[in-house]
Amino acid sequence: MNILVTGANGQLGNEMRIVSKNTTDKYIFTDVNEVEGQETTYLDITDLDAIRKMVCENNVQAIVNCAAWTNVDACETDEKLAALAEKLNADAPENLAIAMKEVGGWLIQISTDYVFGKEPYNTPCNPDQKGTPTGVYGTTKLHGEEKIKNEFEKRISDHEEKKGGYVIIRTAWLYSEFGKNFCKTMLNLTATKPSLKVVFDQCGTPTYALDLANAIVKILEKPVEGTYHFSNEGVCSWYDFTQMIARIAGNTTCDIQPCYSSEFPSPVKRPAYSVLDKRTIKETFGVEVPYWVDSLEKCIHNINKV
Ligand SMILES: NC(=O)c1ccc[n+]([C@@H]2O[C@H](COP(=O)([O-])OP(=O)(O)OC[C@H]3O[C@@H](n4cnc5c(N)ncnc54)[C@H](OP(=O)(O)O)[C@@H]3O)[C@@H](O)[C@H]2O)c1
Repeated sequence: MNILVTGANGQLGNEMRIVSKNTTDKYIFTDVNEVEGQETTYLDITDLDAIRKMVCENNVQAIVNCAAWTNVDACETDEKLAALAEKLNADAPENLAIAMKEVGGWLIQISTDYVFGKEPYNTPCNPDQKGTPTGVYGTTKLHGEEKIKNEFEKRISDHEEKKGGYVIIRTAWLYSEFGKNFCKTMLNLTATKPSLKVVFDQCGTPTYALDLANAIVKILEKPVEGTYHFSNEGVCSWYDFTQMIARIAGNTTCDIQPCYSSEFPSPVKRPAYSVLDKRTIKETFGVEVPYWVDSLEKCIHNINKV
């Protein structure tokens, strides 16, 4: 299969580069930026004509969309950035859906736990549950999901052959050895600061982007249309996540204390309990979901290798 990866120089895109080496598929890695040492073809996913051209010239049968507007805070307070987020998180995935529908291909879209936000505490969110975003980022990502579904659902009203389709995977608390992320920030802070306060009233599950990339490769073997959830296994707060990062790294001198989110006022209302129910993805594709601490150990080991 010929598979196109967008946003290939981001966290998940870089992990897709790694796992693709274990497959016999032909991958094309695209982004709007260049990274030294990485082969990257230029593709701006807000440009439908450019997507169509690339799909046609390379006989692309599946797209893994790792590109997104991910600066959650910035788009909350700036209208121009909110419009950009909508363009990249909602309009651009629609472009990719149009291009894949035209050739009967598959679109793997990555979405987020931020499509939720008003759920009861202590209840993992299931993939069929209605989205309740509380901010701009989550709203734009939910729009993206809806636009993709609408595009592929047109096959029914247009009496088109049902070939290809969409797989939407919502994930959460993504970290990796690439780019900026919570794990790398806390590795640095717990090594350099004498003390640190971290919120303990927001819970979720960290997700090593390498595990998600492996799940995507498995899904591409036999895609089944639908919306799914993937994070690592288990539940923790940002405080627990930080404690574990420091322990694994051996950063023992930093005094890490729990605090309430209200101590760190933010323009964004973050989900208080965004634990994802992963039963459907496990049952449908047989993907393996490692425990979050085991994956964190692997990631920190890989960061230390770089
Ligand atoms: N990070 C998280 O904690 C998290 C949590 C849940 C879900 N997700 C979702 O997971 C997916 C992957 O996230 P990530 O953390 O790997 O993202 P990321 O590191 O921010 O990477 C996104 C990539 O997309 C590129 N991009 C920006 N505009 C583009 C355009 N017009 N056309 C093509 N590429 C463009 C970015 O380039 P520039 O850097 O030059 O802008 C960047 O290389 C996203 O869909 C995100 O919403 C992330």
